[in-house]
Amino acid sequence: MKIARTLTELQAATRTLGETAFVPTMGALHSGHLSLLAAAKADGRPVVASIFVNPTQFGPNEDFNRYPRDEAGDLAQLEASGCDLVWLPDVTTMYPAQAATSISVAGPALRWEGAARPTHFGGVATVVAKLFGQVRPAAAYFGEKDWQQVQVISRMVADLLLPVQIVPVPIARDVDGLALSSRNRFLLPPERAGAPALFAALTKAATQIVAGQQVAAALHDARATLTTAGMVPDYVALVHAQSLEPLDALEHPARIIAAAKLGTVRLLDNVPVA
Ligand code: PAF
Repeated sequence: MKIARTLTELQAATRTLGETAFVPTMGALHSGHLSLLAAAKADGRPVVASIFVNPTQFGPNEDFNRYPRDEAGDLAQLEASGCDLVWLPDVTTMYPAQAATSISVAGPALRWEGAARPTHFGGVATVVAKLFGQVRPAAAYFGEKDWQQVQVISRMVADLLLPVQIVPVPIARDVDGLALSSRNRFLLPPERAGAPALFAALTKAATQIVAGQQVAAALHDARATLTTAGMVPDYVALVHAQSLEPLDALEHPARIIAAAKLGTVRLLDNVPVA
C-alpha cells in the first residue's frame, strides 16, 4: 500500500494506477468504512482511500477538536483491506491561504442536517470536490448512513458534470441494529445499550406506513419511542429519497430519516420505506 502526503506524491502514485475506486474518509475507521472499501475492491479497480478531518464541515460549536484520530490504526486497517493508495493531505493542501472558491449547495442540502448544521454540507461538498479533483477517481463510495450527504454529493456531481460515478453502500450495523459511526465510541455504556432503539423505531414506523397507517401518527410514535429511550429527537421524517422534501403521504422513492441526541452524541439513521 502506497501512502501519499503531498500532491506530488499523490499525482505520481495515481498515474501508475489507471482508473481508480475512491473511498473518502475522515479516519477513525470502523467496519462501516471497511464495507465501503470492500465494495470498492469488489468493483475490480485499484482502491484509493483518503483520510482528512475536514474542518469546514464542522460548525463553530461542534466536535472538530474531539473528533477521533488514529492514523496508525487506520493505516493498518486500510492495508489489511487491500487498499492500494492512501491520500493523507494536510490542511494547507486542502485550504491554501489564497483559496477563494467554495461550493454552495441547496436542494437536498437545505433541510434536516442542513438546517441543524447550516455550514455542514457546503463544507462537505467543497472538500469532496477538491478530493475528486486531486484523486480523479472513476467511482467514489459513500455510506448510506449519511443518506442526505449521499444525495447532496450526487446532486453536486450531476450539477457540475463531474466525471465520477457515485456508489452508495448500504448501512453497516452492529448486531443489535445500531448504525456504525466513528462517534459511537463516545456513548456511555447505558447510552450504548439504549441506542438501538433508533433503528427499531424507524423500522417499525416504515412497516406501519407501508401497512397504511397515517404518516404523521407513525412518525409521532417513533419520536415518542426515542424520547422514552432517553434520546432527544431532532427530526424523524418521511422524505422523498432524493430531494429530501418531506412527504405527508407515502410515495416512492421514500425514506425515513432521523437524528437524535443521546448523551453527547448525535445519532443519525435512516431506512427505506418500500
Ligand atoms: O462522510 C464522511 O466521512 C465525510 O463527510 C467525507 C465524505 C469524507 C467528507 O469529509
